[in-house]
Amino acid sequence: MTDAPILEAKALCKSYGLVQVLHDVELSIAPGESRVVIGPNGAGKTTLFKCLSGEVPSDKGVISLEGREITGLRGWRRVQMGIGRTFQVARIFPEMTARENMTVAVEMRDRLARGTARRLFSLAPAAELRAEVDELMSELDLAAAADRPARILAHGDKKRLELAMSLALRPTLVMLDEPTAGMSPADRADAVAMIARLRDTHGLTLLLTEHDMEVVFGLATRLTVLHQGRIIADGAPADVRADPNVREVYLGHD
Ligand SMILES: Nc1ncnc2c1ncn2[C@@H]1O[C@H](COP(=O)(O)OP(=O)(O)OP(=O)(O)O)[C@@H](O)[C@H]1O
Ligand SMILES: [Mg+2]
Repeated sequence: MTDAPILEAKALCKSYGLVQVLHDVELSIAPGESRVVIGPNGAGKTTLFKCLSGEVPSDKGVISLEGREITGLRGWRRVQMGIGRTFQVARIFPEMTARENMTVAVEMRDRLARGTARRLFSLAPAAELRAEVDELMSELDLAAAADRPARILAHGDKKRLELAMSLALRPTLVMLDEPTAGMSPADRADAVAMIARLRDTHGLTLLLTEHDMEVVFGLATRLTVLHQGRIIADGAPADVRADPNVREVYLGHD
């Protein structure tokens, strides 16, 4: 796989009831890219992520992952094939500790990889899985939070835990929906540095949405602008930033 896109969407459409949210969206993400999708509130960014990850079905269009069509596949099959995802509001098991959350994710990956129902969430995970949990937790600065229930973790710790859990599934592509939403400027800068480091050490391709322009221009190798469910610009960050149409509908208001 050299030139084939990791993820490709063609003529993707999605309506909720009578309201069409996505109109013929075309997207092609090359391996190693860090693509940021920007656009005003309600533009359809989260809906696009949901369609790509299989959380909701799309109405029309074709989605492919590394050349294989995944349009009709359920979300868990897409995870198994390499799509990782975090959410605008972190999704973790609130009553479990950070370490238990991580253990669930690592065991899930292990089980899916073996294709068997061997050991479903055992209380005593194998040593190699425990080591993997510890390594990911320290990589994401979660060691100090390991034994606290997830529900009492600080906002940034929750976001990092969710990211650690998605990495435990060994994705090739990670989709991050507003990874720095609700963070202070200092935490934002740390989050950007961490995402960039994880991208490099894990060889990830990234697809993210963001409203914070420092985060956008700090991470993007390519930008896509969504406006009212349509892509109105797509290209190098500097070119998109200079696009008068983009300034008019989005950047100009920021
Ligand atoms: N489940 C749903 N049912 C009906 N309408 C929905 C649903 N989810 C989203 N919408 C509508 O679809 C449009 C796009 O929403 P979406 O959440 O994809 O936007 P967004 O670009 O992610 O916005 P934000 O920047 O605020 O996160 C909005 O008009 C929203 O109200
Ligand atoms: Mg959204």
